[in-house]
Amino acid sequence: MRSVGSKLELIGINKAYRRGKEQVPVLNNIHLQVHAGEFVTLIGPSGSGKSTLFRLIGGVERPDQGRILVDGNDVTGQRGLISYMPQQAALFPWLSVEDNISSALVTTGTTKVEAKQQAANWLERIHLGGVAKEYPHVLSGGMQMRVSFLRALLMRRNVMCLDEPFAALDALTRADMQRWLLDLWEADRRSVLFVTHSIEEALMLSDRIYVLSSAPATILREIVVPFERPRRADVWKDPAFVQLRLEVLGLLGSK
Ligand SMILES: Nc1ncnc2c1ncn2[C@@H]1O[C@H](COP(=O)(O)OP(=O)(O)OP(=O)(O)O)[C@@H](O)[C@H]1O
Ligand SMILES: [Mg+2]
Repeated sequence: MRSVGSKLELIGINKAYRRGKEQVPVLNNIHLQVHAGEFVTLIGPSGSGKSTLFRLIGGVERPDQGRILVDGNDVTGQRGLISYMPQQAALFPWLSVEDNISSALVTTGTTKVEAKQQAANWLERIHLGGVAKEYPHVLSGGMQMRVSFLRALLMRRNVMCLDEPFAALDALTRADMQRWLLDLWEADRRSVLFVTHSIEEALMLSDRIYVLSSAPATILREIVVPFERPRRADVWKDPAFVQLRLEVLGLLGSK
């Protein structure tokens, strides 16, 4: 399978925040890798530092210790190298929904005319063609998440970091979006680092899963997901799926 993904490595990442006079540790010596073209998920309790880790990878903040490498180059603190979808939908309020999408395409070199056309097509595909000309504030939270997700997807960086992209969606839309993400990902295998609270979603989508402890986060376990690609929609019926689900549940429950 052709891959346009890059390898992402986190080496010995430590991060603490100041709370009053105290330094509160959030990430404790995190080592992880996403290989080129791999789909890797982080799962861990609320407040364990997953979004913090994404802000470090995105270069929005710096780690106290440790390094972040893309294809072997130290990129710690650098912005603009990955496409990053934050947990809260991040759209430009002064741009229409369509222009939010087309501007992402323009940053990757598409001409303005072509970008407008493609944005309209993509919005149809996520069932938002009807609101293309609206401004983000008139959309529901779930709709904004879908647009924000599409934006991150179309930035076409070699590493994509998605922070709970489907959390606000109803079950049916969520299953639709998972399928859609998998289809797109299988077409060009960019490297993905994904955060979710759903064990089923993690098992459905990923090649590997890192289970994090509560803060200060350490990696409790690395799980290789054995199901073949493309994933069958009914993979959840597989006894190995049920077994892994229980294993992760046990790990999350024990911390
Ligand atoms: N800028 C900040 N200043 C101080 N503390 C912070 C800051 N950002 C995050 N924290 C703290 O770091 C810890 C981890 O937060 P983070 O948002 O990374 O967790 P999370 O794993 O993404 O949680 P969730 O699953 O609820 O999204 C929390 O205790 C949070 O209060
Ligand atoms: Mg978070």
